Amino acid sequence: MATIVAGIACSHVPAIGVAMDKGITGTAYWDPLFQGYLPAREWLKNLAPDVAIIVYNDHASAFSLEIIPTFLIGVADSFPIADEGFGPRPVPVVLGCPELAWHIAESLILDEFDMTIANEMPVDHGLTVPLSITCGQPDRWPFKVIPLCVNVVQYPPPTGARCFKLGQAIARAVASFPDDLRVVVYGTGGMSHQLQGERAGLINREFDTAFLDKLTTDPVALTKISHTEYMREAGSEGVEMVMWHVMRGALGPQAAEVYRHYHVPASNTAAALMILDNRSSA
Ligand SMILES: [Fe+2]
Repeated sequence: MATIVAGIACSHVPAIGVAMDKGITGTAYWDPLFQGYLPAREWLKNLAPDVAIIVYNDHASAFSLEIIPTFLIGVADSFPIADEGFGPRPVPVVLGCPELAWHIAESLILDEFDMTIANEMPVDHGLTVPLSITCGQPDRWPFKVIPLCVNVVQYPPPTGARCFKLGQAIARAVASFPDDLRVVVYGTGGMSHQLQGERAGLINREFDTAFLDKLTTDPVALTKISHTEYMREAGSEGVEMVMWHVMRGALGPQAAEVYRHYHVPASNTAAALMILDNRSSA
């Protein structure tokens, strides 16, 4: 049977991808951030998962305001890199895992989560930057990817509690897949940041640190954070953190923090990378 072996929480700041693509990660500004990624890459390389379910939001790359799925799963063989205005990022094409993706889609829908199914979809920095952060710059990504999009762009996004329950349903779906695949689940976006308005540049280290602490020890309490509280404490784009609850809900209660890196600022954003080992929950 397939097993969820780890969860990864990871900011998806577009400028981090640009720094890698331009080869400027060693500059004084970027080096402290990227040094913190190296132990995580080593850990993930040793873990050698077969598939990653990457929970992220599309930034008006694949969808526009014409169609806004609350939850969507990508079931294609491959996903092209989106052109976000400067040409596609120079990273490998993302290979999908249709067999597991269709199984998860069926399981989730019969489990009362009404997923949108994407047979074709470009993937933007929300998905590719976490891959770059955790895998570096390989010629091909080391595992297959199932994109899972959450709407956090157009109000109303789903609640953290609903996202957590989706994660629990994903865990049930993965556990009922017969092949022995080892799966990691990424929750991406965040941490505190606001890109526009009078509070542009907001960073709240205290809120972020408390969130990271409770993600392991008391994740259900975190699911009670309202959209208004995210906006007040973590900025208007801080609401992306609801996607981390999908990842945490997919793990067991015994999941253990094995790595954490928190850095400010990355562009005008707080950036975090955290790994939770789920093998003790099995
Ligand atoms: Fe984002």
